[in-house]
Amino acid sequence: LQRIALLTSGGDAPGMNACIRAVVRKAVYHGMEVLGIKRGFNGFIEADIEPLNLRSVGDIIHRGGTILHTARSEQFLTPEGRSKAYENVKRFGIQGVVAIGGDGTFRGARAFNREYGFPVIGVPATIDNDIPGTDQSIGFDTAVNTAVEAINKIRDTATSHERTFVVEVMGRSYGFIALAAGLAGGAESILIPERPFNYEEICERLIHGNRRGKQHSIIVVAEGAASGLEVGRKIKEYTGFDTKVTILGHLQRGGVPTAADRILASRLGAKAVELLMTGETGKMVGIKSGEVVAVDYDHVLSQVRSIDLEMYNLAGILAI
Ligand code: F6P
Repeated sequence: LQRIALLTSGGDAPGMNACIRAVVRKAVYHGMEVLGIKRGFNGFIEADIEPLNLRSVGDIIHRGGTILHTARSEQFLTPEGRSKAYENVKRFGIQGVVAIGGDGTFRGARAFNREYGFPVIGVPATIDNDIPGTDQSIGFDTAVNTAVEAINKIRDTATSHERTFVVEVMGRSYGFIALAAGLAGGAESILIPERPFNYEEICERLIHGNRRGKQHSIIVVAEGAASGLEVGRKIKEYTGFDTKVTILGHLQRGGVPTAADRILASRLGAKAVELLMTGETGKMVGIKSGEVVAVDYDHVLSQVRSIDLEMYNLAGILAI
């Protein structure tokens, strides 16, 4: 291979920059030229493409966001959009692409692979951690740590005022961030879309805890399970407790990536380049039991990543 390109697509995730650095440096190490495609697949379609070298990825390993910018490209989901992108494959002499993103990114990549037989290797990066075929996605660890830091701070003021706090976290239609942050943050209850919940039970639990001398309570709600404001309103109504709501929102998407995310990003980025070098196509890289692996898009896109029920139940036990 002589020339490859890379892009970041979908919602940004801390560690994307570390992954960009790994792809560029690994490719340059093997004597390739690297092109950076801006704003996800939109830049692929609109030829917003520029060369990257060793220096362009200097001083970014510790930065959140993505220097290539990102977008959720509607156009690339259409055959017309992809055909425009293929024109640019020829125009720029691109022999393979590394696409860093989530399931929408891989759906586009698979379609492009199928239509043009052109290799696009995926790297899972999303704070939601909802990608099957990998134990972890780039950005999840940082987002969870950000949420836990916020919960720590809320805990201070919650104790001082003997209040109940509802903290709404992101995760789209999944509860991975909520479960991890709730367990690490010592939440009284964790509401996730994967498990049914009942307000009466949550409130009775709070009342019970209060009688036994708990000075404050924290309820973590995944955005996909319920609206934090609604949960707060219902708890206040039922218990009469002074209840406040904090919605963490996009705070969770930014910030300095944790060491774990940088290491994951570096390993996965380098593996993606290796797959392109060996002529693989239609695959996403991932991490399974500590090993870097390659998984078919067909597998990734036909499965649903399920929550660890044991961990969910444990969080309930430890919150007594
Ligand atoms: O997929 C990442 C994510 O942050 C989700 O957790 C959230 O539901 C969504 O993106 C928010 O999207 P946007 O940034 O477009 O509002």
